Amino acid sequence: MSEIITAKTAGFCFGVKRAIETAEKAAEEKGTVYTLGPLIHNNDVISGLRGKGIIPVNEPSQAKGCIVIRSHGVGRKTYDEIAGLGLECVDATCPYVAKIHRIADENTADGTDLLIAGDRDHPEVIGIVGFANGRVETVNDCEELDNLIESDKSFGAKSLIVVAQTTFDMCKWTDLQKNIKKHYTNLKIFDTICRATIDRQQEAAALSAQCDAVTVVGGKHSSNTRKLADICSANCPVFFAENGEQLRREHSAAIRDLLSSSHDVKIGITAGASTPAYIIKEVHTIMSEIIKDEAVDAEFAAAIDQMQKVRAYAGNRVKATVVAVNKTEAVVDIGIKQSGYIPAEELSANPNLTPDEVVKVGDVIDCIVTKVNDADGFVYLSKKQVDAQAGMEKILKAKEDNSTVKGTVTAVVKGGVIVTSEDGARVFVPASQSGVPRNGKLEDILKKEVGFKVIEVNEGRGRVVGSIKAAEKEATDAVKAKFWEELEVGKKFVGEVKSMESYGVFVDLGGVDGMVHLTELTWNRVKHPKEVVNIGDKLEVTVKSYDPEKKRVSLTAKKPEDNPWTKFLNEFAEGDVVKVQVVSITPFGAFAQIIPGVDGLIHISQISLERVTNVAQVLSVGQVVEAKITEIDEEKSRVSLSIKALLEGGEADEEEAADEE
Ligand code: F3S
Repeated sequence: MSEIITAKTAGFCFGVKRAIETAEKAAEEKGTVYTLGPLIHNNDVISGLRGKGIIPVNEPSQAKGCIVIRSHGVGRKTYDEIAGLGLECVDATCPYVAKIHRIADENTADGTDLLIAGDRDHPEVIGIVGFANGRVETVNDCEELDNLIESDKSFGAKSLIVVAQTTFDMCKWTDLQKNIKKHYTNLKIFDTICRATIDRQQEAAALSAQCDAVTVVGGKHSSNTRKLADICSANCPVFFAENGEQLRREHSAAIRDLLSSSHDVKIGITAGASTPAYIIKEVHTIMSEIIKDEAVDAEFAAAIDQMQKVRAYAGNRVKATVVAVNKTEAVVDIGIKQSGYIPAEELSANPNLTPDEVVKVGDVIDCIVTKVNDADGFVYLSKKQVDAQAGMEKILKAKEDNSTVKGTVTAVVKGGVIVTSEDGARVFVPASQSGVPRNGKLEDILKKEVGFKVIEVNEGRGRVVGSIKAAEKEATDAVKAKFWEELEVGKKFVGEVKSMESYGVFVDLGGVDGMVHLTELTWNRVKHPKEVVNIGDKLEVTVKSYDPEKKRVSLTAKKPEDNPWTKFLNEFAEGDVVKVQVVSITPFGAFAQIIPGVDGLIHISQISLERVTNVAQVLSVGQVVEAKITEIDEEKSRVSLSIKALLEGGEADEEEAADEE
């Protein structure tokens, strides 16, 4: 039975993948970027990248704003030219190529000549030449090396360094090194062929040795793909194709001939470093179809029929069942034989989400068919567009009933931010409506979940303007309304001290401030709130009274259990003799502290046996005296004290006085 074997190393190498990701990221941030030459040698990928705002140009002068250096790298002069034009430069040169630039630069600084094994017209080689400080020659094989040695005896006579293009043919490199060593003495060879290339070439050699034919997938201009074809053709016939359609068009007859020669044909598939995985997959599918031979022809016709059906629906909705999810796409079944693909960027409008955060295997989702490639048997779909339609309907409804829509801030743009609603609608929120203070940074709310009000919709242009600030205000007003609704005297809060005045402090009760008067801060006598609290302190308070009209709440921080009057009544009684401290002097007597928070009055008549006309002449603030508790008025919380009652005869006077009363 015939078999297809796909090389494990087929497809994007590290450097190409990195360059594409770098360019995509730059395009996402800046809208449009320019690459100096196509990022990779693959027309399908290049047109897909164009759609994302990644435009290839031939010269830096054709670019505007930002230019991306592709993985091949460029020479020093090109960097200077880019800087001279004032363009922003995003450098996606493959690190392996950049290393050769450094080798060329550092080792030729003393005039040492540079020999490059490679293709002199290849952009990578042109870039390496641009870093050499002395003479440079390029040879592609031993014959060219012999010609160089023959024609130019002075080249490399003093000293020579040798590097290879990263994708140079390994066998040719081995031969060249042997010959170079024979002719040049003061020599240093740097083995700069990339490991990805070595692996790919070794696997291509092994694969072609075990197969009856190999299909090499990749662009005709791709040097590494051509080399793979060269390596394989040394062992078996090669079908060189850029994609599945080309394979079918140009090689299906030859493949059928091969299949008719035996029942047990092995066909290999390998691909260059710039061939995306989906093209390898499509080549594999088409190859499988051809192998199924006559019976497959009928199936294939049916498949085309099905594709025509789907094609008729292009732009319309279909139901799709998710059959696989990976980092870059979701594969879906839309009821036909061919696979449907939803690229990651078409799954959700929220760029922060990965495919597996949007869908999972088994989900049945609504999608729009965006592209039908019936030649290659692929259908591309978008979930994002369906979501956006639903999202827009919800946006219109939200505007109508002034409801709050939830979303995530997905980008900071000129003049504001973009919020992607939970249903996938893109909404512009001007900076003034973002809720970020004037001196704040919009970046602070990036990736945050927010609520917003829809303040403007232009359906024709698909433009929606929102306000986070309005939604925040509504939420705050709702909290305040609930607060007043639920407020009652005696309700307790723990609030933060927001501000302080000499007469008291203001406490945040959760959106509404209440006031604690100085006398309500503590049972003790204090002159200023700062003696007991600081701004920022958490304070336990109880509502004493409130006025919803004037939006005023009076609070107390005094706790009944700490009431010194209760303590006093528990510990003292009329007739007790106590040591008290004078705290203030008045014309009619002196107040003295019995315990903290309870003062008693020593009336002017109760200070001495002699008549006192000026209290200050007898007592002073701070003075500690002994006095008798002569009366406790619980109702008025007043205590009368007498010093005189402790003096000889004083008590009798008191009693007489009392009797007379
Ligand atoms: Fe870099 Fe090697 Fe690819 S040099 S671009 S990783 S083939």
